[in-house]
Amino acid sequence: MNVSRRTILKLPLAGAAAPLLLQQGIAAAKSARAPQADLPGELRFCVMGDSGSGAAPQLRIAEQMKAWHDRVDWKHVLMLGDNVYENGETEYFDSRFVDVYRPMLDQGVPFHATLGNHDVRNRDGREMLAAEPFGFIDGADEYELTAGPENAEGKQLARFLCLNSNRWIDAIEGGSKAEVDRLLGRLRERLRESDRYGWNFLYLHHPFHSYVKKFFFGVEKGHGSSEPLQQVLENELRDTIDVVFAGHDHFYQELKPVHGVHHFVAGGAGKMRKGSDSHHPAVEFGADEYHFMDLSLSEDRLLFQTINDEGELIRTGEIPKRGRRAAAQAA
Ligand SMILES: [Fe+2]
Repeated sequence: MNVSRRTILKLPLAGAAAPLLLQQGIAAAKSARAPQADLPGELRFCVMGDSGSGAAPQLRIAEQMKAWHDRVDWKHVLMLGDNVYENGETEYFDSRFVDVYRPMLDQGVPFHATLGNHDVRNRDGREMLAAEPFGFIDGADEYELTAGPENAEGKQLARFLCLNSNRWIDAIEGGSKAEVDRLLGRLRERLRESDRYGWNFLYLHHPFHSYVKKFFFGVEKGHGSSEPLQQVLENELRDTIDVVFAGHDHFYQELKPVHGVHHFVAGGAGKMRKGSDSHHPAVEFGADEYHFMDLSLSEDRLLFQTINDEGELIRTGEIPKRGRRAAAQAA
């Protein structure tokens, strides 16, 4: 079944499917409900990707984001790259980013971006890194930010690690062992600190896992999974990262957990390519729609809602904290 919004609206609530989904570590529902502003949680944030077209769909999504932020007060917005099409041109920073999100930026909502493959076409993204509204911390292409309260054990609720997947893929495909080792060394240092946080998120442009349809003559309707990232990084994430957000493919896709790690593709905040292979056995759910994600985090669970350019709910779901996921999978 090709899962479009109109199809979803006709489906019953999760019902009998819910126990199976819970075994997979994720509870999700397809329903006609509107997104909910009043979700429990201690940290509310937004994720969106591949936004920077400057065209009408980006503006519609931005309008919905603003309307939603007015209701839920996001702590920050994570951008998954391709922030300025077509080539990360500096002269479009305003018209394809700052002006589009100005109402939220003026309200002080921090945006934090990663670099997409289109962004690095302009001087390796250096001008974007230096432009304060994109939120690259200290102007670095890889950085981390922390958010949320500390619990009684002194663990802060969340950490978000930003990777420059362009750099990783170039190094891996180019056979530059020294550069891969350098990147790995720096990442491992950060991952060793994962126990200090309740939740650890990773965001980058290229997806580890993404499944796209093919035309009859075998050409794929999208980019698909990044094998270089899988080969070098997948193992590093299995006990250290809870959730990975990526863009690059211009649709929405939730993957079944890989070594306990949840992956999302959310690259439809400005461009759309109808190519999600939503029947693939590795795919939990997919939708060919413009969208952004609204997430609410607490110590024991991550709630998420995926919302389209008309403000309608595409998907809602819940990811339990890692210990509870492991218990559910073992049961
Ligand atoms: Fe891309």
